[in-house]
Amino acid sequence: MAIPVILDCDPGHDDAFAIMLAAAHPAVDLLGITTVAGNQTLDRTTLNARRVCTVAGIHDVPVAAGLARPLHGEPIVARGIHGESGLDGPGFGEPTVPLDPRDAVTLIRDLLLAHPGPVTLVPTGPLSNIAALLLAHPGLAGRIERIVLMGGSTGRGNTTPAAEFNIVSDPEAADIVLSSGLPVTMIGLNVSHRAPATDEVLARIDALGTPLARICTELLTFFGAAYREVFGFAAPPLHDPLTVAHLVDPELITLVHAPVAVELTGTHTRGATVVDLDGVTGRPANAWVGVDVNAPAFWDLVVDAVRTLGARTAG
Ligand code: BDR
Ligand code: CA
Repeated sequence: MAIPVILDCDPGHDDAFAIMLAAAHPAVDLLGITTVAGNQTLDRTTLNARRVCTVAGIHDVPVAAGLARPLHGEPIVARGIHGESGLDGPGFGEPTVPLDPRDAVTLIRDLLLAHPGPVTLVPTGPLSNIAALLLAHPGLAGRIERIVLMGGSTGRGNTTPAAEFNIVSDPEAADIVLSSGLPVTMIGLNVSHRAPATDEVLARIDALGTPLARICTELLTFFGAAYREVFGFAAPPLHDPLTVAHLVDPELITLVHAPVAVELTGTHTRGATVVDLDGVTGRPANAWVGVDVNAPAFWDLVVDAVRTLGARTAG
């Protein structure tokens, strides 16, 4: 039976691939897509989710907009990585996939209540919507199978030396999710940086030859240039689809059960995920934390997803 999933995202180049993998893979039943402010403002990430669904032929999944700002503090955007639109690179026409009239929390609530069994939440942006859901509807916790999120790091950050973008964008929300008592899997930079989108990967996607493959190549080319410019990386890490890849192939990412705390007050470290890999704090483990990935197997999944959706939409 396919795993029922709600994807909460802030597209974002890598979020776009998370959407495509979740929609394409038969092991996932994508029930809904919700958006949050993150890589760009909420209006842009929402437009981008509808753009991705349109070009990838994803017409049967509701898309709803969520929070435009974090629970505390001011929103930050990742213009330097994702561009002014949040999805710079290819040209997109007007999306034909509509916006669901419900807000994200209401859509997630409705989907959780309507589904016969528990549902997996996959957040690939700041955790504002998910925390808002847990605060507004604590009674729904039993309907959440688990939360598999992209965020944090066992080591350094990418937005500050200590903090990763999704977590530092809304640390209080991340703290609520990680302290919720729900099963949480955290796939962070320490994993995604081990699976870069190399030139060989780009060539494989380009060789698919469909209009969707062309868009994907242009997305990865822009993303790669940004990572080269900002971080000096030879190839960009495609963080977000690792969450979906873990769901469809649990062997793909190595996990350890560990205590994870979100730094809320540090002068220089707010938003850091403090992962106690050595058990030195004596705190109970509250998350499964990714520590390694089979990169070739991951890229096979991504390329297959672009092939599948490209074949459906071509011509
Ligand atoms: C995360 O931040 C965003 O820029 C990406 O979409 C990803 O979710 C990586 O730090
Ligand atoms: Ca993201």
